[in-house]
Amino acid sequence: MRLTSGQIWPIPITLQADLDVSEGDVVELSAPNGKELGRLTVEEVWERDVDLEAENVYRTTDDEHPGVAAIRQEGARSIAGRIEADALPDHDEAFMRRYQTPEESRQAFADRGWRRIVAFQTRNPIHRAHEYLTKAALEICDGLYIHPLIGETKKGDIPAEVRMRCYEVLMDNYYHPEHVMLGVNPGKMHYAGPREAVLHAIIRRNYGCTHFIVGRDHAGVGDYYGTYDAQRIFDDIDLNELGITPLFFEHTFWCHECEGMGSAKTCPHPSESHLFLSGTKVREMLANGEKPPHEFSRDEVAEILIDAFRKEND
Ligand code: ADX
Repeated sequence: MRLTSGQIWPIPITLQADLDVSEGDVVELSAPNGKELGRLTVEEVWERDVDLEAENVYRTTDDEHPGVAAIRQEGARSIAGRIEADALPDHDEAFMRRYQTPEESRQAFADRGWRRIVAFQTRNPIHRAHEYLTKAALEICDGLYIHPLIGETKKGDIPAEVRMRCYEVLMDNYYHPEHVMLGVNPGKMHYAGPREAVLHAIIRRNYGCTHFIVGRDHAGVGDYYGTYDAQRIFDDIDLNELGITPLFFEHTFWCHECEGMGSAKTCPHPSESHLFLSGTKVREMLANGEKPPHEFSRDEVAEILIDAFRKEND
C-alpha cells in the first residue's frame, strides 16, 4: 500500500515488455496505431511476482478475475525508467472535447470559486442510483466533478463514446451547469475493488477534488469483493495523509412506494417495493431490445443506449 518513498499507493502501475534492453538504453514509445509518443530511458529491468501481486492487489489468484487475467497476460518481465512524452495517444473526439489535465481542472475549479469539490468515478452510463449519489453529495459541496473512466474496460462494458453522450444529455437536462463539470479519466479499469477505490481517490485528489464518492462494490467485479469492502479499506488510511475525503453511500434502489431512490437507511418499505438496479441487468435488457424502465434510467439515456445497441447489432 506504499511506494518506497512512503506515499500511499495501492496498485503498482508498471510496464511489461519482452525487450532485450538494459540500464541506459533508450526505447521509443508509440501507440498501437503507430503514433510516436516519446521515449523511455531504461533504469531498471526486473521480474515481477505475478501471484504475489494478484493476491495483494486483487485478493485472489483466480484467472477468471479480469484484473488477474490481465496481469498474467502482461507477464513478469518489467521495465522502468524516465519517460519523455512528446504527444498524447489519439483518443476519439468525444474524449478530447472533455479532456483536461489535472492542472486545468484545478484552474477551472478555482475560476468557479469552488472549494469543496466532490468527484464521481464511473465506468457505466449514469443511471438513477448514480444520479442520486452525485446529487446527494453535491448538496454538501460546491461543485461536482463527473469524471468517468474512459480507458480500457472489460468486454461487455458500454463503450466510452456512447457513455459520453449519455453523460452529456444528463448534464444538459438534469444537472445545474454552474455546479457540475464533466471531465474524463484516461486510466484503465483494474477491477481491484477496495484497492482501486483508493487509487481512484488519489487520482481525483490530483485533479483538485476534496471529496470522493464510494458507493456499493466500488470498482468490483463478480462476487470477488463484499458490498462495502471498498469503503472499509479507508478505515486503515489517514485521510489527512491521503489528501481527499471519501463519502460513503449505502446500496441504493428505487422504491415504488417512496416513488424515488432510497436505501436501507432512508426507506421504511419492504423489499418487494424495491427495484435494485445494476449495469449488468441493463446490458441484458438492451441486448434483448428492451428499454430500461424509467425507474432505472432517464428516458434520454435509455434512448441513446438502445440506439447504440441497435447500431452495434445491425
Ligand atoms: S465502478 O467500477 O466505477 O465503481 P459504477 O460505474 O457502476 O462502477 O459505479 C460508480 C460509483 O457508483 C461507485 O462508487 C459505485 O460504488 C457507486 N454505485 C453504483 N451503483 C450503486 C447503487 N445502486 N447504490 C450505491 N452506489 C452505487
